Amino acid sequence: MSTRRKFLFRSAAASVAALAGKNLFAANHSPVINDPIVISTWDFGKEANAEAWKTLGSGGSALDAVEAGVKIPEADPNNHTVGYGGMPDREGHVTLDACIMDEQYRCGSVMGLEHIVHPIAVARLVMEKTPHVVLIGDGALQFALANGFQKENLLTPESEKAWKEWLKESKYEPVMNIENAKNLPGGPYNHDTIGMLAMDAKGHLSGACTTSGMAFKMRGRVGDSPIIGAGLYVDNEVGAATSSGVGEEVIRIVGSHLVVELMRQGYNPKEACKAAVERLIKRNPEKAKTIQVGFLAINKKGQYGAYALQKGFTYSVKSNKEEKIYEAESKWK
Ligand code: GLY
Repeated sequence: MSTRRKFLFRSAAASVAALAGKNLFAANHSPVINDPIVISTWDFGKEANAEAWKTLGSGGSALDAVEAGVKIPEADPNNHTVGYGGMPDREGHVTLDACIMDEQYRCGSVMGLEHIVHPIAVARLVMEKTPHVVLIGDGALQFALANGFQKENLLTPESEKAWKEWLKESKYEPVMNIENAKNLPGGPYNHDTIGMLAMDAKGHLSGACTTSGMAFKMRGRVGDSPIIGAGLYVDNEVGAATSSGVGEEVIRIVGSHLVVELMRQGYNPKEACKAAVERLIKRNPEKAKTIQVGFLAINKKGQYGAYALQKGFTYSVKSNKEEKIYEAESKWK
C-alpha cells in the first residue's frame, strides 16, 4: 500500500473508531483492542485454560492468567508430570521446575524446587521480588518458605508406587506421549510439561511453563521448562512460544527463543514451530526419531500454531471464539 493509501486507510479507520468511542491505534500503530486468548500444551491444558480464562475474560492481565491457569495441573495429584503428584527422580524426590515471563521481558524461574505445590508462584516472586532470574534447589525452597509458602510432601502414594515399580528394572526410557504411557506398569512416566501462553485485552503477552521434569531423572537434572529461551520465551513485539517433550533436545537449539525469532522473520506460528522441529532433527537426527518434542506458539495477531516430532502432541485453545483441543501436525506419523 502506498504511503498516501496507508494514510487514507488509517484516517478512515480512526474515524470509525472515534465514532465507536474507541482508540484503535496506539502510537506504535498496533491495535490496542484485542481478543484475549490462551493456549496451552496437551489435553489437560483445557482445564488450565478455563481457569486462566476467569482472569482473561474479565479484563485481567495475561500474567495473572497464566499463573492461575498452570496452578490447576500443579495441584492435581492425578497429573504425574506437573507439580503435586509428579513423578520423582530416581532417588524418590519430587523436584519441580517452572518459569514465567511477561510482556516487559521480566522473567523468573525456579529449578529443582522440592516440597512446594506451586513452583510457578515462586518463579513469579523471583521475578517480582528479587534482583535475579533463577533460584535453584535449597535456595529456591528457602526463598519460598520465607515468602509464606508451606512445605508439603509432593510424593503421592500412586507416584511412590510407580517409582518403586520402576526401581525393579531402573530402565530410563521416557515414553513418547501421555496417551502412550497410561497403561504402562508403574503408571504414566513421561515428560508432558504444561506450557501456557496468553494474550490479554491490552494485547500483552505472557507465558508460564511448569513441570516435574522427566520421571526417574538423575538427581539434579534440569530440563528445558524452567530455562528462559528453551522451555518458554515471550517477546511482546513478536509473539511467544513454549515447548514440551525431551528437554535436553530443546535446550540444544534454545527452542522457544528460536520459534519467536522465526516469527520475527515473518514465519507464522505453525511454520516457526515446524522450522524449530526441523532444526532439532538436523542437530541430532538419530535421537529425534526416538523422542517427542512439540512446540506451541502465538503471534501478536493472536494467531497460534504448533508442530511436533511425533504424532500425539495435543494443545488446548480458549478464546471468545472457541474452546478446543487440537492435535499438532508432526514430522513422523
Ligand atoms: N520438558 C520437560 C523436561 O524435559 O523436563
